[in-house]
Amino acid sequence: MAKRKILTDGDPALRKICKPVDKFNLRLHLLLRDMADTMYDADGVGLAAPQVGILRRVVVIDVGDGLVELVNPVILSASEETQTGREGCLSVPGRAGIVTRPMRVKVRAQDRNGAWFELEAEELFARAVCHELAHLDGQLYTDIMDRELTREELEAEAREQEAAAAEEKA
Ligand code: NI
Repeated sequence: MAKRKILTDGDPALRKICKPVDKFNLRLHLLLRDMADTMYDADGVGLAAPQVGILRRVVVIDVGDGLVELVNPVILSASEETQTGREGCLSVPGRAGIVTRPMRVKVRAQDRNGAWFELEAEELFARAVCHELAHLDGQLYTDIMDRELTREELEAEAREQEAAAAEEKA
């Protein structure tokens, strides 16, 4: 397991436009492995390469259905139907906001060996795809959120999580 340091809001690397990947080599495979390790260790559902200081178009996502690796991803189409809900970011610790995203997106990307594929994502997966791809263009959810969650809302969330964890143990 090789964790990398997650950069936080204010670091200039998070505001850069990332370059496409052109070499599908061991270095990329190690980056993908480290990004997945880092994401799982931080209990995140997605991570983009600039969050670990690598300005390349690479993201990893796992919303509970297994690891998805996207290299040079592009959104081909997005549904007019939207979803409005809670969103956080490993680079914006201790905060969360309400963000409106498309309900469904169609994405084209390359796998770790350079083969192109397409996938359709909906609900939380679509939200994660939009959030992570925005990182590749230097955008954070805080730039587009409808509103930020208040301290009271965050504390209520933390209490709910503690109660759920206690119930699991009981
Ligand atoms: Ni993020």
